[in-house]
Amino acid sequence: MKLRIVSEVPAGAWTTLRLICKDQRAKLVPPPTDGEFSGDVGALLHDRAATTCYAGLGERGKLDSAAIRKATGTAAMALRKRGQRKVLLVLEERPEHVGCAVEGFALGSYRFETFLPKKTEPILELVVLVTKEDVAAAKKAASRGLLLATATNTARDIANTPGNLLYPETLATAAQAIATECGLKCRVLDEKALKLGKFGGILAVGGGSARGPRLIELVHAGGPKGEAPLVLVGKAITFDTGGISIKPAANMEEMIFDKCGGTTVLGAMQAIAELKIPRNVVGILAAAENMPSSTAYRPGDIVTMHNKVNVEIVNTDAEGRMVLGDALAWACTEHNAGKIVNLATLTGACGVALGEAAAGMWSNDDAFQAEVQLAAKNAGECVWPMPIFPEHSQQIKSDVAQIKNSGGRLAGACTAAAFLKVFVGETPWVHLDIAYTAHRSKDKHGLSAGATGFGVRTLVELAAQAVS
Ligand code: BES
Ligand code: MN
Ligand code: ZN
Repeated sequence: MKLRIVSEVPAGAWTTLRLICKDQRAKLVPPPTDGEFSGDVGALLHDRAATTCYAGLGERGKLDSAAIRKATGTAAMALRKRGQRKVLLVLEERPEHVGCAVEGFALGSYRFETFLPKKTEPILELVVLVTKEDVAAAKKAASRGLLLATATNTARDIANTPGNLLYPETLATAAQAIATECGLKCRVLDEKALKLGKFGGILAVGGGSARGPRLIELVHAGGPKGEAPLVLVGKAITFDTGGISIKPAANMEEMIFDKCGGTTVLGAMQAIAELKIPRNVVGILAAAENMPSSTAYRPGDIVTMHNKVNVEIVNTDAEGRMVLGDALAWACTEHNAGKIVNLATLTGACGVALGEAAAGMWSNDDAFQAEVQLAAKNAGECVWPMPIFPEHSQQIKSDVAQIKNSGGRLAGACTAAAFLKVFVGETPWVHLDIAYTAHRSKDKHGLSAGATGFGVRTLVELAAQAVS
């Protein structure tokens, strides 16, 4: 999508997009009824000639950046469906919102149609109208918004690619291509290297598949030499059958999205490199396919992890924490992480606790947790703090090893977090469970069905803000 910032309406046929608060509805001629257009965030009104689209912003007093993104996102989605190719966004009255308006628009206009016989036409050009004095600042904010949305959409493209095409090796190839493009260093540990490095968790999970596991590392050396990096770790299970503890057939196809923690880290690293954020950031993707076979790991196995912790396997479907445990331990030893954030579609229990509106957030450091929450707020993504009680750590104690990989049904999302905590030591760490925010089955809130790219913008925001 082409982006232009102007202070005068350019020649040509444009569909005009106007953002209006609830209280401005009455000024429209003729004023719409509540049924036609409520003015709520996400509400749209197309005029008869279809040359103007009004997008609701809700109540003026409650207006925030999330509302702007959702409004322009919903509008972009609808305009693309209607076949509009060129859109003029009028923002003369809201220059401070240009960045998130463009970001929301670019996220909303995304659709994954690679394999459809009939594709909808993408929106070609977005022109944003501001006053003359605001042009320079608006250009800066708008291009940052577009860059963030584009990185998010790249992550969505990879996340939406199914398991027959996207597996650890091809994910590594995709990561290498992105790294080359945006100037990141990329290193891939294949099975041989993983064996040498004693990554017991990743090897156990990946052992059931003919398509071997990979540990993918991306380095952005934006800060001074020797500055302890912020390390971003993503669960990248390219398909999760559950392994020997196999999942029921219903909805198993959704497990192509079990790599979304990893694709989010990839998208964030791309944006961090492109924005030249002045600090050291490392991205790590722990990639494996969880399959049942004669070489698969099994319940009852005892697996020695990268940091020598022995884990009793009680459920091979609790595989995410196995690959993450290795990657987190490696982040501490190999990379001397200053702070770590990991993202994972880790537990169904997180969805039971919080639904689709928020990702669960666990931490061993209150100050860092507050930083991540602030970053998420600024990015318009919702994360919600959850506890790790001593009882949760008790639940994963094993009789035959140090810990076991499932603590049973109660507090399933919290015991998973308690498991990960074992692998980060004293390093300030935040775990985000994105099981129910990483993808959706229907178009909603200005994001199309499929991968949402949740977390990309929060991570970039965090990297940009956390120079503390
Ligand atoms: N990838 C799943 C979690 C998941 C479930 C994500 C549903 C999105 C939707 C994860 O690997 C898993 O299977 N977790 C188990 C853990 C249990 C065996 C302790 C779960 O949530 O049931
Ligand atoms: Mn699983
Ligand atoms: Zn999984």
